[in-house]
Amino acid sequence: MSEQHDREFIKRFSLTLVALMVFTVVIIFVARGIHGTMERSESQARTVAKQERILPVAGVYAGDTGRAAAQAAAEAARAAAPAVAFEGSLDGQMIYDRVCGTCHNAGAAGAPQLIAAAWDGRLDKGRDQLVANAINGINAMPARGGRMDLSDEQVAASVDYMLGALE
Ligand code: HEC
Repeated sequence: MSEQHDREFIKRFSLTLVALMVFTVVIIFVARGIHGTMERSESQARTVAKQERILPVAGVYAGDTGRAAAQAAAEAARAAAPAVAFEGSLDGQMIYDRVCGTCHNAGAAGAPQLIAAAWDGRLDKGRDQLVANAINGINAMPARGGRMDLSDEQVAASVDYMLGALE
């Protein structure tokens, strides 16, 4: 074992250590690079939020929880829908009394009262034309008697009541 030999050994050993250290650093950077290209796995909160976003617009509800959800949805739909007068009632007499009678009872502005003489000539137009005129308005008669939230069927029911009530 010469001193020369020892020195040679230490030199190679040191080189090996340095090489290993460089290799370690290289491995660290390669690993970080690969990690950056991979898709990150989602947290549970993210997954839940995503599933809520892609929920279907309509659903089938069952049980008490479902009933509550369905009721809430129905109420929201009802609030969004345009209101129909008198909750859609087709009671012609009731609608006449509350809306049409204001003019037709007293004959205001030339509105024909519920007496046959006032309807001479008008009846010739036929029931359907009278209904159409009541819906669209004619001369001083405002469309739907001024109640735009009356449906066509409700106006027709009032006209039918009026024609049936002619004396
Ligand atoms: C603001 C007063 C007023 C109200 C309210 C009113 N009317 Fe009239 N209506 C008139 C007048 C005025 C006429 C006559 C129009 C004409 O022929 O010149 C008339 C005419 C009519 C006629 C005959 C139309 C024709 O072609 O001869 C019908 C049917 C009629 N009204 C139905 C109704 C009904 C149904 C209602 C309630 C939903 C109603 N009216 C509410 C004023 C009114």
